[in-house]
Amino acid sequence: MPAKGAMMVLSGTDVLVIGHGVVGAIAAWRARVAGLAVTCLDPHPGAGASYAAAGMLAPVTEADFGEHDLVRLNVASAARWPAFAAEVEHASGMDIGFCTSGILSVAYDVGDAQQLDRLCQVQRRWGLEVEELAVAGARDREPLLGPRIAGAYWVPGDHQVDPRALHRALRENLARLGVTTFSVAAARLLTDSAGAVVGAVDTEGVTHLADRVVVAAGHATRALVAPLEGVEAPTRAVKGQIVRLDGRDAGWIGEARIVRGLVQQRPVYVVWRPSGEIIIGATSEELPDDRQSTVGGVFGLLRDARAIIPGLDELPIAELAARARPGSPDNLPLLGQTATPGLILATGHYRNGILLAALTSDACDAIFAQRPLDELWSTADPMRFCTKETR
Ligand code: GLY
Repeated sequence: MPAKGAMMVLSGTDVLVIGHGVVGAIAAWRARVAGLAVTCLDPHPGAGASYAAAGMLAPVTEADFGEHDLVRLNVASAARWPAFAAEVEHASGMDIGFCTSGILSVAYDVGDAQQLDRLCQVQRRWGLEVEELAVAGARDREPLLGPRIAGAYWVPGDHQVDPRALHRALRENLARLGVTTFSVAAARLLTDSAGAVVGAVDTEGVTHLADRVVVAAGHATRALVAPLEGVEAPTRAVKGQIVRLDGRDAGWIGEARIVRGLVQQRPVYVVWRPSGEIIIGATSEELPDDRQSTVGGVFGLLRDARAIIPGLDELPIAELAARARPGSPDNLPLLGQTATPGLILATGHYRNGILLAALTSDACDAIFAQRPLDELWSTADPMRFCTKETR
């Protein structure tokens, strides 16, 4: 780093990736695999939304009313996951905890059962596989269910991965390919006299020149592109709190399972990993990324999780975490080349960053080969919110 006040300009690279969560790491990896020279900026790689992700690969149980376009992307990405997981593991030599667990979805009371039934009908109209279970059948699948269950569905196609292990593996891939990550944040994007993005200046005042810049900075993308003409990225923080439990001493190890509950209209999920790690998630709060776990947030998660799995009571709490998902106005990502030369966006993956990682990897391959993206991505056009005159 230069002495304070000095200006330093680093010689140009092909691709500069701003943000080193799972999405940014994938962009960097695919750019490098395409033969490009890559540099990344992130003060704390993997410490943003990826850090608090539970890792559900859940196109069905995440499918909500009015989200058909997102569901199409999610379903396509879920189909790509087995091959993507194999590729990441092969390249890194690391296990990322990809498991085909299925998800059991349960309703706590009659109102919850009616709500799940309505949602299930929409999901079936969209061609998603949801199997209604008698409560006894649900108990056969999950003996730990509590006494008060009013309805249940089995979703065989929803699975899980360990997001922190995925991020570690992606970092390993980048290290093996000689990609440098500077532990510093981007302060602003750099443009030339024609308005093309040609790099970024970091918070230490160092200039990083690049032919192409991928902004994968989660909800912070909005502020980074705001000064530019002709592009808008209305990302916002949607805070999610999780509780991590340690099931090892209680013998809750060896199996990958997921139970999702609707408890008096509040959604909650419990994700078991074979290692004995258990994630309870997640709040969804229209609040800034303050990274604070709150009494109300944690109380609500524990109350609702133990309503469906009372045995959680005995487990020690390993960690509380709170991070912001990168939301967008229509819950779809912003992915692809913008109308601004040199500027690529890869953000807005909202609740599905880990699930969409596989399809995002394919999209990055297309971007760096300068091929058009698959038609599926048309709904995630990074220019769709642009109202600035140059649109
Ligand atoms: N995908 C689950 C969540 O965002 O909480």
